[in-house]
Amino acid sequence: MNATDHADNPRGVDFDPRLDEVQQCPFPHYATLRGGPPVHVLPGEWVGRGDERVYAVSRFDLVTQVLTDWHTFSSKFGSSQAIPPEDVMLKVREIMSKGWPRPATMLTADPPVHTRFRRLVSKAFTPKRVQDLAPDVLRICEGLVDAFESTTIDLIPTFCVPIPTSTVALALGVPEERFADFKRWADASVAPIGRQLDMDGWIGFAEGVVELQQYFAAEFEHRMDHPKDDLLTALLEARLDPADDIDGGPLEMAELLSIVQQLQVAGSETTASLIADAIVLLDDHPGEWERIAADPDRAGRVVEECLRLASPNQGLFRIVTRDTELGGVPIPQGSTLWVLYGSANRDESMFGDDAADFNADRDKVQQHVAFGKGVHYCVGAPLARLEATIALQVLTRRFSKVRPVDPSALRYGPSWILRGLTSLPVEFTPRG
Ligand code: HEM
Repeated sequence: MNATDHADNPRGVDFDPRLDEVQQCPFPHYATLRGGPPVHVLPGEWVGRGDERVYAVSRFDLVTQVLTDWHTFSSKFGSSQAIPPEDVMLKVREIMSKGWPRPATMLTADPPVHTRFRRLVSKAFTPKRVQDLAPDVLRICEGLVDAFESTTIDLIPTFCVPIPTSTVALALGVPEERFADFKRWADASVAPIGRQLDMDGWIGFAEGVVELQQYFAAEFEHRMDHPKDDLLTALLEARLDPADDIDGGPLEMAELLSIVQQLQVAGSETTASLIADAIVLLDDHPGEWERIAADPDRAGRVVEECLRLASPNQGLFRIVTRDTELGGVPIPQGSTLWVLYGSANRDESMFGDDAADFNADRDKVQQHVAFGKGVHYCVGAPLARLEATIALQVLTRRFSKVRPVDPSALRYGPSWILRGLTSLPVEFTPRG
């Protein structure tokens, strides 16, 4: 079926985001959307939203309007996961009944519920705690490079994925001998985001979530009697104070577990994809590689430009809370919006005629929406920036070249939300 087949749908999208061709390169399709009416309608089933009518929002100005008006555009979209078929759902529920309920905490809650979570998490996940991770991130990156076994290697499993997985694991106090389990739980949790799974995939997802909950519930319980100077203890001990101007108690166990899972899910695949896409983008701009080597501080600007062009999270949903309009188009209450960060970040009316090009010196290099905007602005943005910046600094210091073996063979994974390379075979030229 094609959205333009709907007689009542004059602004239909004529591409299906589930198609491989679209997932490999959605950008020409986004350009078509931006060149047309302000919003476009597509069948919900195309983006895991069942029978709903979904409005795609692709322009920078409208995307930021939506993201900064949570009263009208609610984040209570339920889940960015695909919905399993009914028979599979029964099995998933049975497995997950052995764990804790998963309350909506940050990503899928609106103020004031969201505000309570966000304030409590911000008291624990502070800029200082992130900055303190810098030596660990450096050690992780150096250790991964030291372990490269040849000058031709797939960078995804050997570098891009282990950096965020190990960093978030360390931040959450997971000991190194459990990193492999943590990675397995992260993979399971991320698996149904923006893609449908088979029965085995759904069972793996449910079992992974329950294992993660059981592990961290035991860790939280231990810290109740044996507090440590770490993020889990800080989450346990976080309290609202009068300056927060919002009521609410400390985080309860199911909430703590939900937050841990959100940090793990949101922080792993996205950051790995950013690092991988940065390598590919720099391959097209070899001069930039040497500029970072000569001036490591430049890596920060380069990471911003890579965030804009890569947008590892291509788009999430909002639910319209009242009859409204976007760009003059009426949108009825209850509608679902698909808010396309990946398109907004290439909008020529915001970033200029060269919006599709890499230019780390552009004036608006930090004004992208790869981390969203407004109350849901990515809580892990400082950590993602830290990891990607150190990763590029280490690679440019250790190698004079890191080149994809065959750029034309690179493939992105099957998700309409999380966009990331499945493998990245590269050749290295070590510095002499
Ligand atoms: C390149 C890496 C990353 C990208 C592209 C990214 C992208 C995003 C985006 C677009 C949002 C906003 C969602 C919305 O508007 O509804 C978001 C929220 C969030 N991110 Fe990230 N993220 C990244 C890394 C991380 C990391 C490292 C963590 C944590 C360790 C993290 C944790 C979260 C959480 C918890 C939220 C929900 C915040 C809220 O709803 O208040 N993210 N992220």
